[in-house]
Amino acid sequence: MAKSYAILTFGCQMNEHDSEVMAGLLEQEGYQPTEDLSQADVILVNTCAIRENAEQRVFGRLGALKQYKLRNPGMILGMCGCMAQEKHVVARLQEHYPWVDLVFGTNNLHRLPELLRQAQDSRQPVYEIWSSAQDVPTALPVHRAGKHKAWVSIMYGCDKFCTYCIVPYVRGRERSREAEEILHEVEELVQEGVKEVTLLGQKVNAYGKEFQGARPGFAQLLRLLNGIDGLERIRFTSPYPRDFTEDVVTAMADSEKVCEHVHLPVQSGSNRVLRKMNRGYTREEYLAIVDRLRKAIPDIAITTDIIVGFPWETEQDFQETLSLVDEVGCDGAYTFIYSPRAGTPAAKWDERFGLPYEVRQERLERLNERIYLHARQRNEALVGQEVEVLVDGPSKTDPEVLEGRTRSNKLVLFRGQQRLTGWFVPVRITSAQTFQVWGEPVDLPRAQSVPVRASSKVAQLGSA
Ligand code: SAH
Ligand code: SF4
Ligand code: F3S
Repeated sequence: MAKSYAILTFGCQMNEHDSEVMAGLLEQEGYQPTEDLSQADVILVNTCAIRENAEQRVFGRLGALKQYKLRNPGMILGMCGCMAQEKHVVARLQEHYPWVDLVFGTNNLHRLPELLRQAQDSRQPVYEIWSSAQDVPTALPVHRAGKHKAWVSIMYGCDKFCTYCIVPYVRGRERSREAEEILHEVEELVQEGVKEVTLLGQKVNAYGKEFQGARPGFAQLLRLLNGIDGLERIRFTSPYPRDFTEDVVTAMADSEKVCEHVHLPVQSGSNRVLRKMNRGYTREEYLAIVDRLRKAIPDIAITTDIIVGFPWETEQDFQETLSLVDEVGCDGAYTFIYSPRAGTPAAKWDERFGLPYEVRQERLERLNERIYLHARQRNEALVGQEVEVLVDGPSKTDPEVLEGRTRSNKLVLFRGQQRLTGWFVPVRITSAQTFQVWGEPVDLPRAQSVPVRASSKVAQLGSA
């Protein structure tokens, strides 16, 4: 019987994509995926260090996995990802989690097959963590989760060192992949049927900065990707405000495949807090970028990330965050209570100037309320419109309801048949909620009049 594996993933899209790479590496070694953890020969936990609760969940999970290890001692339990790059985590694992057989970091993920062999041959747990990446990873085998959408890493790491953030410590310095390699990967994906790619990086629009203009930068990369025949949609996440230069905005507006959505993390609306966060821009500069984007791409959706309860954040600072949300009119936001990360400057400040948990919790609730209000309003504005939906598949709760995304990344639900998965369907929006809109497919004669920017294939509703 074929050997089997399972990967449990925490964290952001970069981690999700790393898990796809690890799945590819394991499948090359003859392993098959399984959902049944009790049967798996290898279980990998790919971890996230961004906030305290993310780390606690991982430790909880590793504790729970001990039972599988006891029942199936031949199984290899591995732990990898961002937490593995933290010294205090490694010490805790060595001392309290002896049933974890293999630990490796973000910089040596490509060593998985070799490390797995070592763990299988050894009676001792195997730990291999590299403090820095030796080079930019080149093409590795990838097992992609979806058929019509794919993630493509274009840059790794982050040099920004925002004072609250662990990412530069666990993901290393910024490095970009060669444009040729990225183009080649996307061309291959399109040949396999992929219609939408999402370019990934912690500061995705800082792509190519180290090439100093000698090779394509982010704006140029967007234009090159836009020229790939058969590719329909291009997305990217997350751009960093300071790197949102005029040429990037123009390239987005000029490139019909680049979708009308940008996820642009702001973190705070207060200049005082932004300065202490070392974000490198002011509220006014952020709003100016939003303005430029809206002028160049009028129907663009804007989502963001916000942290509340940063050390020293006053009620006045928080009010400025609320008013920024109003000024932007966000389509949505991921909101977080500040979480101190060992080794970052803000964690030291938090010991002396941290806010009581109740204050942070209450601000989060007020912020979410405000964001939901705007999200709902923005969604309500879509009612009556016809939009192009790329269908992801049936919804989890009702197999007769399909889920998909508009170019502006709105989640659309409508009644339809599963065979439409992976197709573009024109849908008229009939009602709106905070996190999703509902619609009905438009019949074909009308479909042809749907104003779609990309040369999308429109599903033949009757015969697709
Ligand atoms: N590179 C992206 C962010 C990646 S981390 C950027 O700079 O925009 C994703 C989000 O987690 C961040 O945008 C931030 O809102 C949140 N985050 C990061 N560190 C955090 C911390 N210590 N506490 C709470 N939220 C945090
Ligand atoms: Fe973290 Fe700042 Fe880098 Fe984003 S830009 S990953 S928040 S250090
Ligand atoms: Fe978490 Fe690492 Fe992503 S810390 S947010 S998984 S880069």
